[in-house]
Amino acid sequence: MAKVKVSQQDKALRIGIDLGTSRSAIAASNGKRDWVQSLVGWPKDFVARKMLGDRVLFGDEVNEHRLSLDVVRPLAQGVIKSGTEKDEESVAELIGHLIDLVGPRPRQKIFAAVGVPAEALKVNKQAIREAISDYAEKLIVVSEPFAVAYGMGALDNAMIIDMGAGTTDFCIMHGTMPSVDDQRSLTTAGDYIDEQLLGLLTERYPDADFNMNIIRAFKEEYGFVGDSLTQVEVEVRVEGRLVVHDITNEMRRACESILPAIAETAMDMIARFDPEYQDQVRNNIILAGGCSQIAGIDSYLMEALSEMGPCNVTVVDDPLYAGARGGLELAKDMPYEYWMDM
Ligand SMILES: Nc1ncnc2c1ncn2[C@@H]1O[C@H](COP(=O)(O)OP(=O)(O)OP(=O)(O)O)[C@@H](O)[C@H]1O
Ligand SMILES: [Mg+2]
Repeated sequence: MAKVKVSQQDKALRIGIDLGTSRSAIAASNGKRDWVQSLVGWPKDFVARKMLGDRVLFGDEVNEHRLSLDVVRPLAQGVIKSGTEKDEESVAELIGHLIDLVGPRPRQKIFAAVGVPAEALKVNKQAIREAISDYAEKLIVVSEPFAVAYGMGALDNAMIIDMGAGTTDFCIMHGTMPSVDDQRSLTTAGDYIDEQLLGLLTERYPDADFNMNIIRAFKEEYGFVGDSLTQVEVEVRVEGRLVVHDITNEMRRACESILPAIAETAMDMIARFDPEYQDQVRNNIILAGGCSQIAGIDSYLMEALSEMGPCNVTVVDDPLYAGARGGLELAKDMPYEYWMDM
């Protein structure tokens, strides 16, 4: 392993990156942070290049100009979609864009900690290494929920459940680096809720014009589980005219659809943990990721898990940045021997 002098390490920019299916976030040791939708757009032809300039577009800009672009969502279920060169190039561009957003100094060395879904660690390590090799000097790849746990200082007898778009990732912390056995991923998360909601609403209101973007926006604004005190009413076009639709029951059913499997996995992981510490873990369950914002989700899981005994479930303060911030803390603290050279 090449030795880097301590002074050189100190000048390096440390960054934490959370590579997500729907959005990716970065936090850096220069105090800057930012996020972008995980969307990459390549101009389709010379007309598109003339109009947009010969460059790759990201996030909202991709949606804006989508007719002129080949649009790539390079992270399926948090794994770099394998096979196509375009996906690999797109991840590299996305990482480069995130790094640009935090403005490293010219020629500043970069030490990057990148979070990916728990069970995809092995598959992703090499792909991420290739994607980031143009930008970073050193790399560590960690699981997303571990990064969240580290950032919150929840290092011992805690369980993190990171509910994202493509996957729900679990990690039990017990005072050391978590091993493969301490981590689990399910492919039921936000995207799955959206599909359920679209299905239920299309069945109930066959004439209304629903699409995935509208459905996702409804979920982000009105998503709830358990009892609701208010009706969820939204305006949707029917034959061109806006009509009010009651979607309360469908919203609840779609949002609750991912929870039985999540509760079961959490219970199973806790049951396999050292019996002496199971009570402590059950009392320290932390929800992260975009879906942790669904109203009532903490109480719902608390009730489901209390089958095993008393428990406590809390939601992170800042789900958008919790992973990237934890990655940054890891990038600052990680001993030298853990880093991969590029
Ligand atoms: N306020 C909200 N209420 C309900 N759901 C939300 C809210 N905000 C975001 N979401 C949902 O959370 C999901 C995105 O979460 P997050 O950004 O953690 O995922 P990701 O990291 O991109 O995905 P993954 O971790 O699966 O790769 C999407 O399904 C999004 O619709
Ligand atoms: Mg995520």
